[in-house]
Amino acid sequence: MPLPVILDCDPGHDDAFTIMLAAAHPAVELLAITTVAGNATIEKTTLNARRICTVAGIEGVPVSAGLGRPLCGTGLVAGNIHGESGLDGPGFGEPTVPLDPRDAVTLIRETLLAHPVPVTLVPTGPLSNVAAFLLAHPALAAERVERIVLMGGYTGRGNRTPAAEFNIAADPEAADIVFSSGLPVTMIGLNVSHQVPATADVLDRLDALGTPLARLCAELLTFFGTTYREVFGLTAPPLHDPLTVAHLVAPGLVTLVRAPVAVELTGTHTRGATVVDLDGVTGRPANADVGIGVDAPAYWDLIIEAVRTLGSAR
Ligand code: RIB
Ligand code: CA
Repeated sequence: MPLPVILDCDPGHDDAFTIMLAAAHPAVELLAITTVAGNATIEKTTLNARRICTVAGIEGVPVSAGLGRPLCGTGLVAGNIHGESGLDGPGFGEPTVPLDPRDAVTLIRETLLAHPVPVTLVPTGPLSNVAAFLLAHPALAAERVERIVLMGGYTGRGNRTPAAEFNIAADPEAADIVFSSGLPVTMIGLNVSHQVPATADVLDRLDALGTPLARLCAELLTFFGTTYREVFGLTAPPLHDPLTVAHLVAPGLVTLVRAPVAVELTGTHTRGATVVDLDGVTGRPANADVGIGVDAPAYWDLIIEAVRTLGSAR
């Protein structure tokens, strides 16, 4: 039985590859896509989700817009990384995939109620929608959410501030709600994603596919690489978000340890930090499976195969 999944994302170049991997891999049943403000405004992340579904031929998966701002405070955007559109690089025509009129929390709720078995939530942006759903429907979440597998946080240093990774920094209160929910949580953070830079070899493998979708993916990664070089001085961009789905379809691809994770909410210089007690010095109970390593070659094989599968079906 394929694993039923709802993606909650802020496309976003790496979110785009997550959507494609989830749609292409036979071990996943992609039930719904909800969008959140993060890499760009909610209007742009939602348009981008529809764009990716359109160019990849992903049909019949409802796409709903969620929250345009965090639960508390003002939001963040990452135009310096993902560009003005939130998905700069290739040109896109008008999407043919429609916008589902339901909001994200409603779509999550109705999807969970309609599915015969519990569903895995895969957030790859700020956790605003997921937290809002948990606050609105705690009993349904406890009964019908199998696990939350999120990209966010880190066990080392941040990328939005020295202490905070972007997805957590954009809505720390939402992240605290998720990590405190008591639900099974898997956290795949920067300490893992920076082990999977999209190098020239990845671009070469995409070029070798020779399909329009593969060319578009190469253009996405080329733009993503330009901004990561300019902003972080990295030679290749880490493809963060698809690690979530890769972990689900290939158990063991991401090495995990159980650990207590706390989200800093009030630190003057550390708000949004995920404080991961890998050494058990706090005595707090573990509340998450935390990524610490990855089989990078296997990861890229999954990404390339997803693009090949979707591209050859077009
Ligand atoms: O810090 C990386 C995360 O922030 C990724 O999910 C990226 O898409 C942005 O949302
Ligand atoms: Ca993202």
